[in-house]
Amino acid sequence: MNKPNSEIIAEDAKRIEAFLTSFPQLKFSDDFPENKTAEAEAYALSAGGKRIRPVLAVEFYKLFSQSAEAPDFVFEAACALEMIHTFSLIHDDMPEMDNDDFRRGKPATHAKFGADIGLLAGDGLALLPFEILSQMSEDKKLKPEVAIKLINILAAGSRGMIAGQTLDLWSEDRTEGVDEAFLRKMSNLKTGCLLKAACLFGAVMAEADEKALEKTAEYAENIGLAFQIVDDVLDVTSDQTTLGKPIGSDSERNKATFADVLGIDGALNEARRLSESAARAISEYPKSELLCEFALSLAERKK
Ligand code: IPE
Ligand code: IPE
Ligand code: MG
Ligand code: MG
Ligand code: MG
Repeated sequence: MNKPNSEIIAEDAKRIEAFLTSFPQLKFSDDFPENKTAEAEAYALSAGGKRIRPVLAVEFYKLFSQSAEAPDFVFEAACALEMIHTFSLIHDDMPEMDNDDFRRGKPATHAKFGADIGLLAGDGLALLPFEILSQMSEDKKLKPEVAIKLINILAAGSRGMIAGQTLDLWSEDRTEGVDEAFLRKMSNLKTGCLLKAACLFGAVMAEADEKALEKTAEYAENIGLAFQIVDDVLDVTSDQTTLGKPIGSDSERNKATFADVLGIDGALNEARRLSESAARAISEYPKSELLCEFALSLAERKK
């Protein structure tokens, strides 16, 4: 009997957890004061995240390589996405940005280690992915041309995220001047760009053709926006225990969100519409059911 898709995703996430703890750069010892930042990096990365970005990379690899399992190198490279994402979360929570002291069900990194080490941990996790991907090429785990493509995709995705975060900060207290078009642009950048990098990671490692890369990007752009719309909704409708992070953070900082501009039901309907577009983009490919189902489940996610 076939495994349910949710079980496959849970297994991917579990394997990602194991890889995330295997990097020697994140080992630390109290004997070395310079290890404090590595300890904070490992803390921020440790269990609690949904691991959606690396899971997408793994599943896109499987889709375009038409294999039931992904080899270790795909999981190792996919960890780079989780590191950049975690760097973005560490900085996002700091008092200068969203000022949230809880993340992934525990104190935020700056709350636990202080703002100075929090800042450095974010810096460290922004750079480690590039060390890992280039080392994978050195170690012949990735073809050099594939490694270069991944590095390029990750750097572009990260800079897109930073541009989106810049718009997010700019928009605080300007809610009257912020419309739906602005929210779409900001969300595509701050959240969509890294999700797109994640999907492209898998497709590139599977050496997918041009058309497949275009379809991957189309899927990713749709789920990226749907994902942020639901994130905005959950900030209003969920609770901290379920979500692992404070709710009401957006209204506290006077941020304009899809929940305000479209209303809760309108926002969820828009997320559903985008998820359907995402699924349509890749449904012609055999064995795309898992990724289609994943897209369609986004509007119903509870965390
Ligand atoms: C939260 O991302 C930040 C956004 C980009 C909306 P996730 O909801 O994927 O957070 P984790 O990784 O599961 O903690
Ligand atoms: C964050 O958006 C997107 C990032 C690039 C980190 P949010 O600020 O809404 O994310 P949460 O709600 O704190 O996870
Ligand atoms: Mg934010
Ligand atoms: Mg935030
Ligand atoms: Mg949010």
